[in-house]
Amino acid sequence: MRGGMSLSFLLVLLCSSNGWTRTEGYHCKQREGTSLTILMDETPAYHSLSYSLEKVLNSVSARFPCVTRQYTTITLDRTETNETITNDKSDFLQCITRKSWDYAYYYKHMSICNQSLLYGLKRALEISPSESLILVYTFGCMADYNDTRLLSEVYTLLEEKKSQVYFLRYSWYCKMEASQKDVFNEIASLSYGGFIDMRMTDNYELWRSFELLLSKPLNSTLHLLNICLKVTEEYTKVFSVPTSLSYLLITRNQRVILKFTDPNGSTFAIDNTYYYNYYNYYVQSSNLIKTPAEGSWILNARGNSSLSLQILGFTGNYLDSDCHPNATCSEFGGYGECTCKKGFSGDGTTCNDIDECQDDYTNNCDYYSGGSCVNTIGSYTCNCSRGYKYISEFGCVDIDECADSSLNDCDPIAICRNHYYGSYTCTCPDGYYGDGRHCEVNECQQGTLCDSNEDCMKYIGSYSCVDPCSNHTVLDDSWRSTSNKANSSNYQYDWYHCDYDLSGWYRFKREYDQQIPEHCIPVDSCGADFPIWMNGSHPTVSDGIVNRTACSSWYVGCCTIPNNISVKKCPEGFYVYKLQSTPTCYSVYCTESNHSCSGLDCAPGEECGIVDGVHGCYCRDSSNTTDGMQLGNVEGKLKKCPREEKEEK
Ligand SMILES: *[C@@H]1O[C@H](CO)[C@@H](O)[C@H](O)[C@H]1NC(C)=O
Ligand SMILES: *[C@@H]1O[C@H](CO)[C@@H](O)[C@H](O)[C@H]1NC(C)=O
Ligand SMILES: *[C@@H]1O[C@H](CO)[C@@H](O)[C@H](O)[C@H]1NC(C)=O
Ligand SMILES: *[C@@H]1O[C@H](CO)[C@@H](O)[C@H](O)[C@H]1NC(C)=O
Ligand SMILES: *[C@@H]1O[C@H](CO)[C@@H](O)[C@H](O)[C@H]1NC(C)=O
Ligand SMILES: *[C@@H]1O[C@H](CO)[C@@H](O)[C@H](O)[C@H]1NC(C)=O
Ligand SMILES: *[C@@H]1O[C@H](CO)[C@@H](O)[C@H](O)[C@H]1NC(C)=O
Repeated sequence: MRGGMSLSFLLVLLCSSNGWTRTEGYHCKQREGTSLTILMDETPAYHSLSYSLEKVLNSVSARFPCVTRQYTTITLDRTETNETITNDKSDFLQCITRKSWDYAYYYKHMSICNQSLLYGLKRALEISPSESLILVYTFGCMADYNDTRLLSEVYTLLEEKKSQVYFLRYSWYCKMEASQKDVFNEIASLSYGGFIDMRMTDNYELWRSFELLLSKPLNSTLHLLNICLKVTEEYTKVFSVPTSLSYLLITRNQRVILKFTDPNGSTFAIDNTYYYNYYNYYVQSSNLIKTPAEGSWILNARGNSSLSLQILGFTGNYLDSDCHPNATCSEFGGYGECTCKKGFSGDGTTCNDIDECQDDYTNNCDYYSGGSCVNTIGSYTCNCSRGYKYISEFGCVDIDECADSSLNDCDPIAICRNHYYGSYTCTCPDGYYGDGRHCEVNECQQGTLCDSNEDCMKYIGSYSCVDPCSNHTVLDDSWRSTSNKANSSNYQYDWYHCDYDLSGWYRFKREYDQQIPEHCIPVDSCGADFPIWMNGSHPTVSDGIVNRTACSSWYVGCCTIPNNISVKKCPEGFYVYKLQSTPTCYSVYCTESNHSCSGLDCAPGEECGIVDGVHGCYCRDSSNTTDGMQLGNVEGKLKKCPREEKEEK
């Protein structure tokens, strides 16, 4: 009788029981260990199951490389039962993950609660060796729990095989009748296993319990206490713990508060009733007690609920360490656990060097610094580029050359600035001149050494007074013109210019001399976003060199980013400007015609220029231009002014 299920499909994988890969010359005597069986119905928990199981099995097999065990899986679904038996851990893990989960199917069928779980359990007990750990992954439905014959067969098998059955309930859509719950609890209790609601998060203890059950030698389990009763208010039970136990494994539900008192009078409590009361779940969990004291223990239970509690004891107290020299051995459950040290990988009996240099993520050499990685046995080191040093926690890190004068070649009075990414710079302080490696007093910054017509020029070793009228750079860019305005036809990247590289004395000159305008210039003029004009009037020749403020126009104002410049009028009538790089881009010094020609006194509105080879004051003919001034500086032509024309008549 199997709840209407069609015939099982039996798949037996016979794997080599000598499947251990061993290093040369490694010998160990194979022995049998606790077998593991997984019974799964259609719970969607496969992923978390295989993840947790893999961790436990890797850990157990690393500690006990010479132990063989049978791995059994039984999967149930509506139409068939699949069974696999193997001695190979990887095959086993693959069997568990093999079945992919079909959510659509699940949500359609979950309410049916039509799982022949009891039949599955019977098969699990039959085909698993004695003393197996049987984990039942279920969404909590046992449709055939009513089948009394099947149930009695299961009870007989539990008695005979002494296997531990843990039901891990993963889903809560199936309504569970009280009588169905009783069957789960009864089986869990009889087998010293558990009925565990996986919504609870104390799974760490649970998986450690499974690890212990799989680690223990065969025939080392003692059944110490099995209680299944109703507690009203308080219940006390004395149980005895024999000598030399390595662990007690307490599996219990959490509806009552448990207090244990050992023979020495020490006590500890287990109280997870809060979770039970809060969620109203049927919760059961496990705790481990290491090296319990021998003698009479007192269990005190408080609450008003049914109590299900099983206590197993484990004998066997020897270290089993076949650890590799580059593995550490730590104790677990009376056994040694081999774990490869940092820098090595393997199962603990074999540990191979990890080549950290093969993978950028396992070394920190190259992060910013261009260092190179050198593998060593168990570790690695970094050859760092210049300006970096190796620190094991961080890899190649910048050296602060400024922290120690022996690490930099700055002049002792220079300002040293460390730059991350391996470099530093030296700068002479204000009042000094030099490249930072060498600094000397800048005489030009020490009061007026030159007369007002000359500029003080500093060079290495000394200084000189230079007349900028005879020593300057000529700039003849036509795009500087105030009439060069941005519009839709020239609005493109190369229309914009920037004077970030200017430094020194300049004369603006095209066909004839130009000057910086003394009035605000609208934005998007002179080939830049921020055209620069001069706030103040131009000097006369006798004024010598004067200081002025250069202003950048922007939408918010005419003088948004002021900048200091100096100006001198030369006897020949042109101006020279001492300019510095503009504070921002795109920003340029604008120019317009120089209205005061040398030696000529042009009237307002007149410009000086050359017409027909004659230098003089002229007027601009705007009649032959479309909108006054055109871009590209095709300005109206200069011609004789009306007053001169009149005079000539
Ligand atoms: C359980 O599933 C079987 C096979 O699909 C079906 O014949 C039976 O009617 C189902 N029982 C219930 C109660 O849904
Ligand atoms: C279980 O048995 C009870 C009575 O013995 C019956 O009412 C119930 O329908 C049965 N449930 C199933 C799923 O067969
Ligand atoms: C465990 O005990 C059974 C008998 O109860 C015995 O046949 C078997 O060899 C024992 N196993 C080990 C590993 O001692
Ligand atoms: C263990 O690691 C050290 C370096 O830490 C190495 O020299 C030695 O060869 C390794 N031993 C084995 C057996 O691999
Ligand atoms: C201009 O000044 C610089 C720096 O003082 C100097 O090297 C150069 O000879 C001068 N040129 C002229 C034409 O005076
Ligand atoms: C112009 O400014 C410079 C420094 O910016 C200063 O040394 C010089 O004395 C100033 N000249 C005048 C005439 O104010
Ligand atoms: C130009 O300079 C004068 C005097 O320093 C000042 O009052 C005026 O506000 C400045 N003009 C602009 C547009 O900043």
